[in-house]
Amino acid sequence: MQLLGIAAMSLDGCLTCHDRPGTGFASAEDHAFFQDALQTFDCSIAGRRTYEAAREAILRAGPGPRLQIVLTSTPGRFTEARTDHLEFRNAGVAEVARELTRRGRTRCALLGGTGLYTEACALGLLDELWVTIEPVAFGEGVRMFRGPVEFRFELAESVALSGNTLVLKYRRLGG
Ligand SMILES: NC(=O)c1ccc[n+]([C@@H]2O[C@H](COP(=O)([O-])OP(=O)(O)OC[C@H]3O[C@@H](n4cnc5c(N)ncnc54)[C@H](OP(=O)(O)O)[C@@H]3O)[C@@H](O)[C@H]2O)c1
Repeated sequence: MQLLGIAAMSLDGCLTCHDRPGTGFASAEDHAFFQDALQTFDCSIAGRRTYEAAREAILRAGPGPRLQIVLTSTPGRFTEARTDHLEFRNAGVAEVARELTRRGRTRCALLGGTGLYTEACALGLLDELWVTIEPVAFGEGVRMFRGPVEFRFELAESVALSGNTLVLKYRRLGG
């Protein structure tokens, strides 16, 4: 199964503006890009906080063809769970990716946050990383990776979503 990380980022590397949840800082063009991109995946994995930031919109949209898996230590408390649509797991990215492969899924979006991106890269699981760069700087916010890591990628493609916003598509070096 292919695993692709997707994130919108400030030009100084923040995934959120300070401690404000969600991606409200991202442009309308990026939101449209993200929604279009999601349709090309048959599954996705997100951490509980990332899910909660988008929960209202996810529940409003209703079940779609993409199986969404949310990582949490307390899966039992999410009564909105629906098999094959929205599932909750007390497990890491590697274990869930193995499960998704067993279930026949072929293309998975890794939606963050920090711990999930870090685990996937540390274990060499991430095939591609798509980063939208927005022309804003926050100084503080959620970061993509935790700890003193050194992950290397190569640029596969860059796409201008507008005069202001770039998507940089990286792939794992040597991958
Ligand atoms: N700009 C972007 O593109 C972008 C991308 C991603 C996230 N974000 C933002 O960043 C914020 C969230 O990121 P975050 O890094 O703080 O949190 P996160 O990764 O979304 O969620 C962390 C939570 O996920 C669960 N979790 C993670 N690994 C687990 C494991 N191995 N086993 C079981 N549960 C696990 C735990 O939930 P429990 O506490 O329930 O156990 C943990 O507290 C949100 O505001 C989100 O909107 C932005």
